[in-house]
Amino acid sequence: MSGAAEVTIRYAREADLEAIQRIYNHEVATGTATWDEEPWPMEKRRTWFAEHDALCPLLVAEAGGRVVGFASLSKMSQKSGWRFTREDTIYLDPAWRGCGLGRRLLGELLQEAWRIGMHAVVATISSENSASIELHRSLGFEVVGTLRETGLKFGRRLSTTYMQLVRAEE
Ligand SMILES: CC(C)(COP(=O)(O)OP(=O)(O)OC[C@H]1O[C@@H](n2cnc3c(N)ncnc32)[C@H](O)[C@@H]1OP(=O)(O)O)[C@@H](O)C(=O)NCCC(=O)NCCS
Repeated sequence: MSGAAEVTIRYAREADLEAIQRIYNHEVATGTATWDEEPWPMEKRRTWFAEHDALCPLLVAEAGGRVVGFASLSKMSQKSGWRFTREDTIYLDPAWRGCGLGRRLLGELLQEAWRIGMHAVVATISSENSASIELHRSLGFEVVGTLRETGLKFGRRLSTTYMQLVRAEE
């Protein structure tokens, strides 16, 4: 593993989907950051990729020609009144955690959110995921609520922490 400074952040391409699958499905199998319990098939990932247009950007972090993380914005709701709000997603290869890359990648994703005119970004986080809560806090997000015991994975009940960042007035 190297420092986050050696990593390039760019928009994702279809050729990145296998790496995105590797990173996400590892988390499905081993962790509670996602409450998916079955690995995503590639067909579902391709549909997800197609949904990430200019108003739902998808970024990857690349180091030495290898994708080591991804982050995206998606709609909180299909209802039109939600159009200035996005939910963020971020996953890193385990070897690249804890060295500042999450902060850099999420920071760039937030710049994308403001650039495309969004007003609020929401994070839906498993309450035991201290790394994600601290990552979001470090970029100005605040905890706005908890849903208790809304999930079950690996035989344990899990809660949801909602965090939110509203764009600062300019
Ligand atoms: C969550 C995740 C993206 C964080 O990225 P990261 O590169 O490890 O985090 P960073 O090194 O940029 O650290 C960001 C902040 O979080 C803190 N942090 C990082 N890992 C932590 C941990 N395990 N426990 C507590 N705080 C932690 C850092 O101290 C830093 O805070 P600071 O800026 O105030 O010092 C990464 O750990 C990951 O991919 N985890 C698995 C997937 C996941 O949980 N995704 C989020 C789903 S909601």
